[in-house]
Amino acid sequence: MRTIITGVGHFVPDQKLTNKDFEKMVDTSDEWITTRTGIKERRILDKNKGTSYMASKAAEIVLEQANISADEIDLIIVATVTPDMPVPATAALVQKDLKAKNCWGFDLNGGCTGFICALATGSQFIESGRHQKVMVIGADKMSTVLNYQDRTTCVLFGDGAGAVMLEPSIEDDQGVQDFVLHLDGLGAEYLNIAGGGSLHPASYDTVKQNLHYVYQDGKTVFKHAVNGMTEVSELIMERNKLSAGDIKFLIPHQANYRIIDAVAKKMGLNPDKVVININKYGNTTAATIPLAVSEAHQERKIRKGDWLVMTAFGAGFTWGSLLLKWAID
Ligand code: COA
Repeated sequence: MRTIITGVGHFVPDQKLTNKDFEKMVDTSDEWITTRTGIKERRILDKNKGTSYMASKAAEIVLEQANISADEIDLIIVATVTPDMPVPATAALVQKDLKAKNCWGFDLNGGCTGFICALATGSQFIESGRHQKVMVIGADKMSTVLNYQDRTTCVLFGDGAGAVMLEPSIEDDQGVQDFVLHLDGLGAEYLNIAGGGSLHPASYDTVKQNLHYVYQDGKTVFKHAVNGMTEVSELIMERNKLSAGDIKFLIPHQANYRIIDAVAKKMGLNPDKVVININKYGNTTAATIPLAVSEAHQERKIRKGDWLVMTAFGAGFTWGSLLLKWAID
Protein backbone atom coordinates (compact mmCIF):
# COMPACT_ATOMS: atom_id res chain seq x y z
CA MET A 1 0.00 0.00 0.00
CA ARG A 2 1.25 3.46 -0.91
CA THR A 3 0.17 6.99 -0.05
CA ILE A 4 -0.81 9.17 -3.00
CA ILE A 5 -1.66 12.85 -3.18
CA THR A 6 -5.17 13.16 -4.67
CA GLY A 7 -5.66 16.92 -4.31
CA VAL A 8 -3.51 19.99 -3.80
CA GLY A 9 -4.32 23.65 -3.19
CA HIS A 10 -2.94 26.86 -1.82
CA PHE A 11 -3.97 30.23 -0.51
CA VAL A 12 -2.04 33.49 -0.35
CA PRO A 13 -3.41 36.83 0.86
CA ASP A 14 -3.92 39.58 -1.75
CA GLN A 15 -1.85 42.23 0.01
CA LYS A 16 1.70 42.48 -1.34
CA LEU A 17 4.76 43.90 0.39
CA THR A 18 7.39 44.68 -2.26
CA ASN A 19 11.11 45.34 -1.97
CA LYS A 20 10.34 48.95 -2.88
CA ASP A 21 8.01 49.14 0.14
CA PHE A 22 10.88 47.93 2.35
CA GLU A 23 13.11 50.72 1.03
CA LYS A 24 10.78 53.11 2.88
CA MET A 25 10.79 51.01 6.08
CA VAL A 26 14.44 49.96 6.70
CA ASP A 27 17.92 50.67 5.34
CA THR A 28 17.75 48.29 2.37
CA SER A 29 17.33 48.26 -1.40
CA ASP A 30 15.48 46.27 -4.02
CA GLU A 31 18.88 45.47 -5.50
CA TRP A 32 20.29 44.01 -2.23
CA ILE A 33 17.21 41.89 -1.52
CA THR A 34 16.95 40.63 -5.10
CA THR A 35 20.61 39.70 -5.52
CA ARG A 36 21.10 38.26 -2.00
CA THR A 37 17.80 36.32 -1.75
CA GLY A 38 15.88 36.24 -5.06
CA ILE A 39 12.80 37.72 -3.35
CA LYS A 40 10.87 40.55 -5.05
CA GLU A 41 7.67 40.57 -3.01
CA ARG A 42 5.77 38.65 -0.35
CA ARG A 43 2.12 38.45 0.82
CA ILE A 44 0.76 39.77 4.11
CA LEU A 45 -2.45 38.54 5.78
CA ASP A 46 -4.90 40.97 7.44
CA LYS A 47 -4.19 41.75 11.09
CA ASN A 48 -7.49 40.28 12.28
CA LYS A 49 -6.96 36.84 10.70
CA GLY A 50 -4.73 33.97 11.87
CA THR A 51 -2.85 31.12 10.22
CA SER A 52 -5.95 28.88 10.42
CA TYR A 53 -7.77 31.20 7.98
CA MET A 54 -5.21 30.53 5.24
CA ALA A 55 -4.94 26.83 6.15
CA SER A 56 -8.71 26.37 5.87
CA LYS A 57 -8.87 28.21 2.54
CA ALA A 58 -6.15 25.95 1.09
CA ALA A 59 -7.89 22.85 2.53
CA GLU A 60 -11.23 23.84 0.97
CA ILE A 61 -9.61 23.93 -2.47
CA VAL A 62 -8.11 20.49 -1.86
CA LEU A 63 -11.49 19.00 -0.89
CA GLU A 64 -13.07 20.38 -4.03
CA GLN A 65 -10.25 19.14 -6.23
CA ALA A 66 -10.15 15.65 -4.69
CA ASN A 67 -13.97 15.55 -4.73
CA ILE A 68 -14.11 14.65 -1.05
CA SER A 69 -16.58 15.92 1.55
CA ALA A 70 -15.25 17.30 4.83
CA ASP A 71 -17.00 14.48 6.74
CA GLU A 72 -14.73 11.93 5.09
CA ILE A 73 -11.50 13.40 6.52
CA ASP A 74 -9.93 11.08 9.12
CA LEU A 75 -7.04 13.26 10.23
CA ILE A 76 -5.86 16.87 9.85
CA ILE A 77 -2.18 17.67 10.37
CA VAL A 78 -1.16 21.33 10.33
CA ALA A 79 2.55 22.09 10.06
CA THR A 80 3.13 25.59 11.39
CA VAL A 81 5.41 27.71 13.57
CA THR A 82 2.78 30.43 13.86
CA PRO A 83 -0.35 28.78 15.32
CA ASP A 84 -3.33 31.10 15.84
CA MET A 85 -2.76 30.62 19.59
CA PRO A 86 -0.78 28.28 21.85
CA VAL A 87 -3.94 26.31 22.72
CA PRO A 88 -5.92 24.84 21.03
CA ALA A 89 -4.07 23.47 18.02
CA THR A 90 -4.59 25.25 14.70
CA ALA A 91 -5.83 21.87 13.39
CA ALA A 92 -8.87 22.25 15.70
CA LEU A 93 -9.69 25.65 14.20
CA VAL A 94 -9.34 24.23 10.68
CA GLN A 95 -11.60 21.31 11.66
CA LYS A 96 -14.21 23.84 12.82
CA ASP A 97 -13.95 25.91 9.62
CA LEU A 98 -14.24 22.84 7.40
CA LYS A 99 -16.99 21.27 9.56
CA ALA A 100 -15.02 18.01 9.35
CA LYS A 101 -17.11 16.02 11.83
CA ASN A 102 -15.29 12.68 11.83
CA CYS A 103 -11.63 13.46 12.31
CA TRP A 104 -8.87 14.06 14.81
CA GLY A 105 -5.82 16.20 14.30
CA PHE A 106 -2.79 17.99 15.62
CA ASP A 107 -0.20 20.65 14.86
CA LEU A 108 3.38 19.81 14.06
CA ASN A 109 6.32 22.18 14.49
CA GLY A 110 9.10 21.12 12.16
CA GLY A 111 10.21 24.67 11.34
CA CYS A 112 10.67 25.14 7.62
CA THR A 113 10.81 21.33 7.22
CA GLY A 114 7.33 21.08 8.78
CA PHE A 115 5.46 20.17 5.62
CA ILE A 116 7.80 17.28 4.79
CA CYS A 117 7.55 16.05 8.42
CA ALA A 118 3.74 16.26 8.20
CA LEU A 119 3.61 14.51 4.82
CA ALA A 120 5.86 11.71 6.12
CA THR A 121 3.70 11.40 9.27
CA GLY A 122 0.40 11.45 7.37
CA SER A 123 1.65 8.83 4.94
CA GLN A 124 2.28 6.42 7.83
CA PHE A 125 -1.37 6.58 8.91
CA ILE A 126 -2.39 5.73 5.33
CA GLU A 127 0.17 2.94 4.85
CA SER A 128 -0.79 1.31 8.15
CA GLY A 129 -4.35 1.03 6.83
CA ARG A 130 -5.63 3.01 9.82
CA HIS A 131 -6.84 6.02 7.79
CA GLN A 132 -8.17 6.60 4.27
CA LYS A 133 -8.13 10.39 4.02
CA VAL A 134 -5.52 12.60 5.64
CA MET A 135 -5.40 16.38 5.10
CA VAL A 136 -1.83 17.68 5.40
CA ILE A 137 -1.42 21.46 5.56
CA GLY A 138 1.61 23.75 5.75
CA ALA A 139 0.66 27.28 6.81
CA ASP A 140 2.41 30.24 8.39
CA LYS A 141 1.65 33.88 9.11
CA MET A 142 5.29 34.92 9.43
CA SER A 143 4.38 38.63 9.42
CA THR A 144 3.35 38.20 13.08
CA VAL A 145 6.83 37.12 14.23
CA LEU A 146 8.96 39.58 12.27
CA ASN A 147 10.65 42.68 13.57
CA TYR A 148 9.98 45.17 10.78
CA GLN A 149 12.88 47.26 12.02
CA ASP A 150 15.41 44.41 11.56
CA ARG A 151 16.47 44.43 7.90
CA THR A 152 18.36 41.14 8.27
CA THR A 153 15.15 39.13 8.83
CA CYS A 154 12.03 41.13 7.93
CA VAL A 155 12.65 41.12 4.18
CA LEU A 156 12.94 37.33 4.02
CA PHE A 157 9.51 36.02 5.03
CA GLY A 158 5.86 36.16 3.98
CA ASP A 159 2.43 34.63 4.72
CA GLY A 160 0.77 31.72 2.93
CA ALA A 161 -0.65 28.19 3.06
CA GLY A 162 -0.68 25.02 0.99
CA ALA A 163 -2.42 21.69 1.51
CA VAL A 164 -2.67 18.18 0.10
CA MET A 165 -5.07 15.26 0.49
CA LEU A 166 -3.48 11.86 1.13
CA GLU A 167 -5.25 8.65 0.18
CA PRO A 168 -4.20 5.00 -0.22
CA SER A 169 -3.27 3.38 -3.50
CA ILE A 170 -2.76 -0.32 -4.11
CA GLU A 171 -0.32 0.46 -6.91
CA ASP A 172 3.14 0.24 -5.39
CA ASP A 173 4.77 2.27 -8.11
CA GLN A 174 3.25 5.64 -7.20
CA GLY A 175 2.93 8.11 -4.35
CA VAL A 176 5.31 8.54 -1.42
CA GLN A 177 8.23 6.18 -1.95
CA ASP A 178 10.76 7.25 0.68
CA PHE A 179 11.78 9.98 3.10
CA VAL A 180 14.85 10.97 5.11
CA LEU A 181 14.40 13.27 8.12
CA HIS A 182 16.84 14.75 10.63
CA LEU A 183 16.73 16.76 13.83
CA ASP A 184 19.68 18.49 15.52
CA GLY A 185 18.89 20.68 18.52
CA LEU A 186 22.37 22.19 18.47
CA GLY A 187 20.88 24.41 15.76
CA ALA A 188 18.41 26.01 18.21
CA GLU A 189 20.76 28.87 19.04
CA TYR A 190 21.08 29.93 15.39
CA LEU A 191 17.40 30.14 14.44
CA ASN A 192 14.65 30.67 16.98
CA ILE A 193 11.78 32.67 18.40
CA ALA A 194 12.83 32.64 22.06
CA GLY A 195 9.83 34.36 23.67
CA GLY A 196 6.27 33.24 24.29
CA GLY A 197 7.00 29.66 25.34
CA SER A 198 7.42 28.11 28.79
CA LEU A 199 11.05 29.18 29.13
CA HIS A 200 10.46 32.87 28.40
CA PRO A 201 6.71 33.47 28.73
CA ALA A 202 5.43 36.81 27.46
CA SER A 203 6.35 39.64 29.79
CA TYR A 204 7.30 43.28 29.60
CA ASP A 205 10.97 42.21 29.41
CA THR A 206 10.49 39.66 26.61
CA VAL A 207 8.72 42.30 24.55
CA LYS A 208 11.41 44.90 25.32
CA GLN A 209 14.16 42.45 24.30
CA ASN A 210 12.39 41.57 21.00
CA LEU A 211 12.22 37.90 22.01
CA HIS A 212 8.93 37.36 20.18
CA TYR A 213 10.54 37.89 16.80
CA VAL A 214 12.51 35.54 14.55
CA TYR A 215 16.20 35.53 15.41
CA GLN A 216 18.56 34.12 12.81
CA ASP A 217 22.30 33.82 12.30
CA GLY A 218 21.86 33.91 8.53
CA LYS A 219 25.33 32.79 7.49
CA THR A 220 25.35 29.70 9.75
CA VAL A 221 21.85 28.70 8.65
CA PHE A 222 22.79 29.22 5.01
CA LYS A 223 25.76 26.86 5.19
CA HIS A 224 23.87 24.13 7.06
CA ALA A 225 20.90 24.47 4.70
CA VAL A 226 22.98 23.93 1.55
CA ASN A 227 24.86 20.97 3.00
CA GLY A 228 21.84 19.39 4.72
CA MET A 229 19.43 19.64 1.79
CA THR A 230 22.02 18.36 -0.67
CA GLU A 231 23.03 15.42 1.53
CA VAL A 232 19.50 14.09 2.11
CA SER A 233 18.41 14.65 -1.48
CA GLU A 234 21.43 12.81 -2.88
CA LEU A 235 20.91 9.99 -0.37
CA ILE A 236 17.25 9.52 -1.24
CA MET A 237 18.02 9.42 -4.97
CA GLU A 238 20.93 7.03 -4.52
CA ARG A 239 19.09 4.53 -2.36
CA ASN A 240 16.15 4.54 -4.78
CA LYS A 241 18.51 4.13 -7.74
CA LEU A 242 17.50 7.39 -9.41
CA SER A 243 19.80 9.82 -11.20
CA ALA A 244 19.33 13.54 -11.93
CA GLY A 245 17.90 12.62 -15.35
CA ASP A 246 15.05 10.61 -13.76
CA ILE A 247 13.80 13.52 -11.64
CA LYS A 248 11.12 15.78 -13.15
CA PHE A 249 11.37 18.41 -10.42
CA LEU A 250 13.23 19.23 -7.26
CA ILE A 251 10.77 21.11 -5.07
CA PRO A 252 12.92 22.82 -2.46
CA HIS A 253 12.00 24.92 0.53
CA GLN A 254 12.09 28.55 -0.62
CA ALA A 255 14.31 30.44 1.86
CA ASN A 256 16.92 31.95 -0.42
CA TYR A 257 17.42 31.59 -4.18
CA ARG A 258 21.17 31.19 -3.62
CA ILE A 259 20.56 28.18 -1.32
CA ILE A 260 18.29 26.55 -3.92
CA ASP A 261 20.77 27.24 -6.71
CA ALA A 262 23.69 25.79 -4.74
CA VAL A 263 21.73 22.61 -3.86
CA ALA A 264 20.59 22.12 -7.48
CA LYS A 265 24.12 22.60 -8.80
CA LYS A 266 25.58 20.11 -6.31
CA MET A 267 22.90 17.60 -7.35
CA GLY A 268 23.65 18.15 -11.05
CA LEU A 269 20.13 19.42 -11.79
CA ASN A 270 19.51 22.01 -14.51
CA PRO A 271 17.57 25.12 -13.40
CA ASP A 272 14.55 24.02 -15.46
CA LYS A 273 14.21 21.02 -13.12
CA VAL A 274 13.76 23.17 -10.01
CA VAL A 275 10.45 24.71 -8.97
CA ILE A 276 10.99 28.27 -7.79
CA ASN A 277 8.45 30.86 -6.64
CA ILE A 278 10.44 32.61 -3.89
CA ASN A 279 10.41 35.79 -6.00
CA LYS A 280 6.63 36.09 -5.44
CA TYR A 281 6.20 34.91 -1.85
CA GLY A 282 9.50 34.95 0.06
CA ASN A 283 9.91 32.31 2.76
CA THR A 284 6.46 31.19 3.93
CA THR A 285 8.07 28.59 6.26
CA ALA A 286 5.87 25.44 6.38
CA ALA A 287 3.90 26.62 3.32
CA THR A 288 6.69 26.94 0.75
CA ILE A 289 6.65 23.36 -0.57
CA PRO A 290 2.88 22.77 -0.86
CA LEU A 291 2.57 26.26 -2.36
CA ALA A 292 5.20 25.40 -4.99
CA VAL A 293 3.63 21.98 -5.70
CA SER A 294 0.17 23.51 -6.00
CA GLU A 295 1.30 26.19 -8.46
CA ALA A 296 3.28 23.69 -10.55
CA HIS A 297 0.21 21.42 -10.64
CA GLN A 298 -2.07 24.33 -11.59
CA GLU A 299 0.30 25.26 -14.41
CA ARG A 300 0.23 21.59 -15.48
CA LYS A 301 3.99 21.31 -15.21
CA ILE A 302 3.69 18.12 -13.12
CA ARG A 303 2.04 15.11 -14.72
CA LYS A 304 1.10 11.61 -13.55
CA GLY A 305 4.18 9.41 -13.20
CA ASP A 306 6.65 12.27 -12.65
CA TRP A 307 9.32 11.78 -9.98
CA LEU A 308 9.48 14.66 -7.48
CA VAL A 309 12.05 15.25 -4.76
CA MET A 310 11.00 17.65 -1.98
CA THR A 311 13.66 18.98 0.35
CA ALA A 312 13.80 21.50 3.19
CA PHE A 313 15.87 22.87 6.03
CA GLY A 314 14.72 24.87 9.02
CA ALA A 315 14.60 25.71 12.71
CA GLY A 316 15.66 22.95 15.05
CA PHE A 317 17.70 22.37 13.03
CA THR A 318 15.40 20.12 11.02
CA TRP A 319 16.03 18.92 7.50
CA GLY A 320 14.81 16.26 5.17
CA SER A 321 13.87 15.00 1.77
CA LEU A 322 10.86 13.10 0.45
CA LEU A 323 10.61 11.16 -2.80
CA LEU A 324 7.25 10.97 -4.52
CA LYS A 325 5.80 9.73 -7.78
CA TRP A 326 2.98 12.11 -8.77
CA ALA A 327 -0.36 10.34 -9.14
CA ILE A 328 -2.80 12.99 -10.42
CA ASP A 329 -3.54 13.11 -14.18
N1 COA B 1 19.44 45.12 3.18
C1 COA B 1 20.68 45.62 3.06
N2 COA B 1 21.75 45.12 3.71
C2 COA B 1 21.52 44.05 4.52
C3 COA B 1 20.25 43.49 4.68
C4 COA B 1 19.18 44.06 3.96
N3 COA B 1 17.93 43.60 4.04
N4 COA B 1 20.35 42.44 5.51
C5 COA B 1 21.65 42.35 5.88
N5 COA B 1 22.34 43.33 5.28
C6 COA B 1 23.76 43.64 5.40
C7 COA B 1 24.35 43.09 6.67
O1 COA B 1 24.10 43.98 7.74
C8 COA B 1 25.81 43.01 6.30
O2 COA B 1 26.37 44.27 6.43
P1 COA B 1 27.84 44.44 7.06
O3 COA B 1 28.74 43.68 6.12
O4 COA B 1 28.03 45.91 7.05
O5 COA B 1 27.75 43.83 8.41
C9 COA B 1 25.77 42.65 4.82
O6 COA B 1 24.46 42.99 4.36
C10 COA B 1 26.00 41.18 4.55
O7 COA B 1 25.19 40.46 5.43
P2 COA B 1 25.22 38.89 5.50
O8 COA B 1 24.38 38.41 6.62
O9 COA B 1 26.65 38.46 5.40
O10 COA B 1 24.52 38.56 4.12
P3 COA B 1 24.30 37.16 3.46
O11 COA B 1 24.82 37.20 2.11
O12 COA B 1 24.71 36.04 4.36
O13 COA B 1 22.73 37.13 3.34
C11 COA B 1 20.78 36.15 4.38
C12 COA B 1 21.91 37.16 4.49
C13 COA B 1 19.95 36.17 5.62
C14 COA B 1 19.93 36.51 3.18
C15 COA B 1 21.39 34.75 4.16
O14 COA B 1 22.40 34.52 5.09
C16 COA B 1 20.39 33.64 4.25
O15 COA B 1 19.58 33.51 3.38
N6 COA B 1 20.51 32.77 5.27
C17 COA B 1 19.70 31.59 5.44
C18 COA B 1 18.25 31.94 5.47
C19 COA B 1 17.38 30.78 5.78
O16 COA B 1 17.48 29.77 5.15
N7 COA B 1 16.50 31.00 6.76
C20 COA B 1 15.38 30.25 7.13
C21 COA B 1 15.66 28.87 7.50
S1 COA B 1 14.70 27.95 6.58
